Amino acid sequence: MLEVRGLYAGYYRDLPILRGVSLKASARQITAVLGANGVGKSTLLKTIFGLIRPEQGEITLEGRSLVGVPPHRMIHLGVSYIPQDHGLFREMTVEENLAMGAWPYRRDRRRVRAKLEENYERFPALKAKRHQRAGQLSGGQQRMVEVGKALMMDPKVILVDEPSAGLSKLLTEEVYQLLDQLRSEGIAILLVDQDIRHALQVADHVYVLELGRNHFDAPAAELQDLERAFWV
Ligand SMILES: Nc1ncnc2c1ncn2[C@@H]1O[C@H](COP(=O)(O)OP(=O)(O)OP(=O)(O)O)[C@@H](O)[C@H]1O
Ligand SMILES: [Mg+2]
Repeated sequence: MLEVRGLYAGYYRDLPILRGVSLKASARQITAVLGANGVGKSTLLKTIFGLIRPEQGEITLEGRSLVGVPPHRMIHLGVSYIPQDHGLFREMTVEENLAMGAWPYRRDRRRVRAKLEENYERFPALKAKRHQRAGQLSGGQQRMVEVGKALMMDPKVILVDEPSAGLSKLLTEEVYQLLDQLRSEGIAILLVDQDIRHALQVADHVYVLELGRNHFDAPAAELQDLERAFWV
């Protein structure tokens, strides 16, 4: 569904951070990208979402090129992005944050309302707190708002940068359960995480980056055996 081929991208001309990254993320699958700090994981998601223009390479969604498509068009094509710094407006209420996810159709109040209600059914905790400022919520609830906001556009693909960052073990479990649920609803999830253990447990396929390139990739089930060998 989402395919990246031979991607070169960075922040300065002729200084690529990504130096030939290729991957695929399919519907009904969780694809995890792992790698050391600074290897370019966030840069990869930013480039896919159109925040950075690649110097070389191809990014396609269902065969259609996404190169040069700006982020505000991306969301119309079915790509949502949850950045590493999570992108919530802390001073705005939960509901205002969710409604920001419906910006492109904000004048269609009935549709906005319907999508908000869908989110409140999915996340009852958010319904109770809908008029509270997002910054006052627990870390896990904030992550729910971020996901809920992404869902307002009915994405086909969600790019998630470090879903478990800053969360306790228990909340990390909850966030991964939520991603598992979204996968079963048919969404393609491409995530980047430091939490290798959780990523391996939930992902279908894992890519490991090194020095801005693919190091290796494999079905997560194969790597779990490897992991067990290390942990036992
Ligand atoms: N806005 C920026 N301007 C210039 N260089 C940047 C910028 N953001 C990141 N970099 C550099 O790009 C490289 C890759 O950064 P990136 O954020 O993609 O890494 P990462 O794999 O997501 O790391 P982490 O695991 O710490 O989140 C790093 O060397 C970083 O210093
Ligand atoms: Mg990062």
